[in-house]
Amino acid sequence: MLLYQLPDDILYLVLSYLDCKSLSRLSQVCKKIHNFANRDAVWRSIARECINTGMTRQGTDMYPQIPLKDRVRVSQNWRRGHHRKEVLLKWKTNLLPWIQLDRDVLYLSQAADIGAYHLRMEGGRIRRPAAVYSGHQEDVCRFVLTDTHLISAGGDGKIIAHHRWGCQWVELCGHGQEVNCVDSQGGVIVSGSRDRTARVWTLSSEQLGGCLHTIPMLDRVWSVAISPSQSSFVTGTACCENSTPLRIWDTERGQLVTCLGGQFRHGAGVLDVAFESPALLLSCGHDTYIRYWDLRTSARNCVMQWEEPHDCALYCIQSDGNHMIASGSSYYGVVRLWDKRHTRCLQSFQLSPPTSSPVYCLRFNTSHLYTALATALFALDFRGHVTKVRR
Ligand SMILES: *[C@@H]1O[C@H](CO)[C@@H](O)[C@H](O)[C@H]1NC(C)=O
Repeated sequence: MLLYQLPDDILYLVLSYLDCKSLSRLSQVCKKIHNFANRDAVWRSIARECINTGMTRQGTDMYPQIPLKDRVRVSQNWRRGHHRKEVLLKWKTNLLPWIQLDRDVLYLSQAADIGAYHLRMEGGRIRRPAAVYSGHQEDVCRFVLTDTHLISAGGDGKIIAHHRWGCQWVELCGHGQEVNCVDSQGGVIVSGSRDRTARVWTLSSEQLGGCLHTIPMLDRVWSVAISPSQSSFVTGTACCENSTPLRIWDTERGQLVTCLGGQFRHGAGVLDVAFESPALLLSCGHDTYIRYWDLRTSARNCVMQWEEPHDCALYCIQSDGNHMIASGSSYYGVVRLWDKRHTRCLQSFQLSPPTSSPVYCLRFNTSHLYTALATALFALDFRGHVTKVRR
């Protein structure tokens, strides 16, 4: 009996013992095996072990339109650091830009405005934004996207909820001082400010822009994130007056659930926080560590931590939902990739020599990484050669 004459389920079982290299070799044997060996089912368990393939820890697939085999191949480029770097946009004055990626559209804040830019598959400089969201008197500090809204927080203390597909916008009462951070999910907005409060707002159409809670904090609030479960949110503060800069709050009641980060030293403020799941949280900031928190255990421990080797602050992080974290440092535009299973960083890219700029924001999908520095927006393309998209 020939290999390909085996029943499908037996063949799957046999192939499930093979590693990447052997599978790729086997698929070159004949057309029949090739077709079989290219199926997602054959690659699924390998893809789960690779970084940034879009297979999350919970088993969901974020990019079902791209064959897993191709994503495993691109994943090797991330691991080895093979990429093509491009400057997408440059400007003259130093800014504190923030970005969000939604498929092929990149939203970039520059001073008081946010532009929506269409990115081209083949790369190249971007020019005019397809849409501009404005309304702030001072620079936009941060903004988020929901299915319906773009919500921006500004140095002028304002929070504006723009309709993404129209020109209507609503201004919320905002804060007494600059609004450093904002997040939104499930019809709720959470904001944090230099005025030492966090506020919870509603986006529901009856009371749009109503403030549900004002929560006093001991410190300036630098970062917020709403849990995927939507029942709670986390605030990251400056850590000057306060020995626990990370706090979890109940969204509905606006009450404290728990404090994290009791061991943080004075000044170790938290600049970015991101939930990976309702139970797992990542944080980074002035203490030069990425920390991974498990909110399930009663102790709500920091279960892992990774130290920035150059002893500088970390401004931003994003996780692939599985093994990879990308972080942005405060000097020389250094971006690092981390594999959570190792303590040392996997790759680092220095984007801004000879001048120094923090990486203010980074966003990635399985093929590209975008970073916003003080005077430029960079794209790193990890595809190697162009990936096929399933029709
Ligand atoms: C990642 O984003 C870029 C630009 O938006 C897009 O061209 C590319 O197709 C995206 N890749 C995936 C895997 O979605």
